[in-house]
Amino acid sequence: MTAATRSDADDRAFVRGHTSLRRPPLLPEVTLWLADDVVPLWEATERRLGGTDTDPPFWAYAWAGGQAVARYVLDHPDEVAGRTVLDLASGCGVGAVAAAVAGAARVEAADIGMFAGVAAELNAESNGVRVAVTARDLLREPPPAVDVVLAGDVCYERRMTARMLDWLATAHRQGSRVLLGDPGRAYLPGTGLVRVGEYDVPTPTDLESAPVRRTAVFCLAPLVGAAAGTPT
Ligand SMILES: C[S@@+](CC[C@H](N)C(=O)[O-])C[C@H]1O[C@@H](n2cnc3c(N)ncnc32)[C@H](O)[C@@H]1O
Repeated sequence: MTAATRSDADDRAFVRGHTSLRRPPLLPEVTLWLADDVVPLWEATERRLGGTDTDPPFWAYAWAGGQAVARYVLDHPDEVAGRTVLDLASGCGVGAVAAAVAGAARVEAADIGMFAGVAAELNAESNGVRVAVTARDLLREPPPAVDVVLAGDVCYERRMTARMLDWLATAHRQGSRVLLGDPGRAYLPGTGLVRVGEYDVPTPTDLESAPVRRTAVFCLAPLVGAAAGTPT
C-alpha cells in the first residue's frame, strides 16, 4: 500500500495492530500503545509504506528521554498546569500526554515521523486527554510562543541535534521554559544545561544497551545579562 492510498483509519489500525496498551513502570499514571520488538515492526512499516529506507518506528516506544520528561512533569505539575505546552519530536507523545494529564491548558505534539501523530492521538485518547498533533517540521519555522517546550531524547544524531538545540535555544530566548530529557546520548551538550531531575528508566534491551538507563531532565541555563541570546 502506498502513502497515497493510506487513510487515517488505516494508520490507526496499523498502530493499534502492532502495539498493545501498556503502563510503563516509570509512568503508572498513563497508558500508552507501545510495541515489543523493533525489527518486525520496522519491517512491517517498510512493507506498509512500500519502501526500504524507512526511519525506525520511533513512535512505537516511549524513549528514555521522553519517559524522564514525562515523569518530571507528572511530579511537578506546576511546570505545566494551565500553560501551553509543545512536545517537540514527540514520538508516541509520552511527554505531551503527561503534560495534558498534569493539567496543561493546551498541548501540541510535533513529530515529522510517519505514524507519530496517529500514535500521539491514540495515546491521548487512551488517557482521556486532548493533544493536538502536527507533522510539520517546526524546526523550519520560528518557535511558537508557548509557555513550555518538552524535548525527549533528541540528542542521538549529530545534524538533527544541532538543529534541535539551536531551535530550543531560540525558544528559550523567546521566553519558553525548555525541558530536555536525555539518557546521555552521543550529542548531548556538555554545557548550557541545568539538571532539574534524574530517573532510572526501565528500557527494552533490544533498543538500549542496558535494561535501565539513568536519564536526566534539564532546563536550559538562565540567560545572562546583555548576552541574552546564548544560554551560558
Ligand atoms: C528517539 S525519538 C524520541 C520520541 C519521544 N520524544 C520519546 O522520548 O519517546 C526522536 C523523535 O524525533 C523525531 N524527529 C526527528 N526530527 C524531527 C523534527 N525535525 N521535528 C520533529 N520531530 C523530529 C523522530 O521522528 C522521532 O520520533
